[in-house]
Amino acid sequence: CRVRRYQFNVVMKNTNRLCSTKSIVTVNRKSPGPTIYAREDDTVLVRVVNHVKYNVSIHWHGVRQLRNGWADGPAYITQCPIQPGHSYMYNFTITGQRGTLLWHAHILWLRATVHGAIVILPKLGVPYPFPKPDHESVVILGEWWKSDTEAVINEALKSGLAPNVSDAHTINGHPGPVPNCPSTVGYTLSVKPAKTYMLRVINAALNEELFFKIAGHKLTVVEVDATYVKPFKTNAILIAPGQTTNVIVSANQNAGKYMVAASPFMDTPTVAVDNMTATATLHYLGTLSTSATTLTTPPPQNATPVANNFINSLRSLNSNLYPTKVPLKVDHSLLFTVGLGINPCPTCKAGNGSRVVANINNVTFVMPTTALLQAHYFNTKGVFTTDFPGKPPFSFNYTGTPPANLQTTKGTKLYKLPYNATVQVVLQDTGIVAPENHPVHLHGFNFFAVGRGLGNFNPKTDAKKFNLVDPVERNTIGVPSGGWVAIRFRADNPGVWFMHCHLEVHTTWGLKMAFLVENGKGSNESILPPPKDLPKC
Ligand code: C2O
Repeated sequence: CRVRRYQFNVVMKNTNRLCSTKSIVTVNRKSPGPTIYAREDDTVLVRVVNHVKYNVSIHWHGVRQLRNGWADGPAYITQCPIQPGHSYMYNFTITGQRGTLLWHAHILWLRATVHGAIVILPKLGVPYPFPKPDHESVVILGEWWKSDTEAVINEALKSGLAPNVSDAHTINGHPGPVPNCPSTVGYTLSVKPAKTYMLRVINAALNEELFFKIAGHKLTVVEVDATYVKPFKTNAILIAPGQTTNVIVSANQNAGKYMVAASPFMDTPTVAVDNMTATATLHYLGTLSTSATTLTTPPPQNATPVANNFINSLRSLNSNLYPTKVPLKVDHSLLFTVGLGINPCPTCKAGNGSRVVANINNVTFVMPTTALLQAHYFNTKGVFTTDFPGKPPFSFNYTGTPPANLQTTKGTKLYKLPYNATVQVVLQDTGIVAPENHPVHLHGFNFFAVGRGLGNFNPKTDAKKFNLVDPVERNTIGVPSGGWVAIRFRADNPGVWFMHCHLEVHTTWGLKMAFLVENGKGSNESILPPPKDLPKC
């Protein structure tokens, strides 16, 4: 195994999109930023130098960071942010993982422009469990705001209302031609006839689940969130913020130009964002650039059947080499309601004296002012409590009419798990404000998605239908609107691990919590010592 060294200079850069220019936060003057390449078992060293006016931290989304939360990145959870003029060396080893992941800023809304790909190749000499594609490309989906994203969220927090949606979606940084700016050039993926291409598709958008489709070409899904799946063919994939999906495309059509489309999925409620399809071009080499492009119609914004069909097709590979190790016995069986709520806010004029908040089990998470992992490691009192409820504080019809005047409580509450405990979490969407999709991400672990359904989870009947054989393994999962998902994992990674909705607006509102996994007794079962240059708050 090798050591892979990267330098990330966080700098401002004037960038033109949608026919106007603004200054954005970038890594090495690029957005999307540089791709991290490594092989399984390699050590990655990334020196992040902060040259901007904001505090910064970078998260290596999906990298398990065994015993090494110091390199995980979420600000105030595992580290204090890197202050302007300061730097920090993220130092981690990639263990037992191969595939596509992403890195992104994990503070404020900086991840809008501060993100990039992580490509983890299998160990030298180990083949993919599917025919080797002739070529590989990274395809990063994102969002673009004409205004400054920090201003967008600050304004929303002041008013108590929802923030403005973005002005466009992007594919590798470019929206493609849009009505008010038709001259915009989109990303072009050039292909050679009869060759196969693996696209490592990443959703780095702040707030949108997206469909991704290519005119005239089927996509063969082979991997999600850096875990192999049973290959299947589909016209469109669904990908939530934080998720990654590897697909294989055969350049087996008539030579020409084909539209690539990324479009939003939002079953309820409907914010009008469906005019924001980002487009790119699949271009067969030798085709004249003036020739007409074969168009595609993206699934409609509320195409729930397309979404369900895709999600239900995902199965882990479960082969001899890559067995699926679902915990069959559960030590901690938890039910977490996830959703939005309304709290009083006397200063919120636009919100009529109230504000939208978000919660898990009715707790709106309050960010601490020092990092939780340090507080845990150094035994600093008064930073967090370990009374996060394993069940909702009272039960009601989560997907029906909520109790009147339901307010959330606030706290920096963690749920404590003994080392190596097996955990099941049923994530139940609530309709307190409106049923809404929540892509929930767990740091430090992969989990198995053993069940999914609509309505209220029924422990008696639904648990009998769990897939404990080949459930998909991932790090980010969509909780369906007015429904639930059940996940299982083994708490084999001591530390403090964030779990939150990966729609940035919901994270900001408080849809987040953290697990505290205690040290085990073995010599390899406790948190590693912190690095010397760990930032201070
Ligand atoms: Cu990709 Cu806590 O985030």
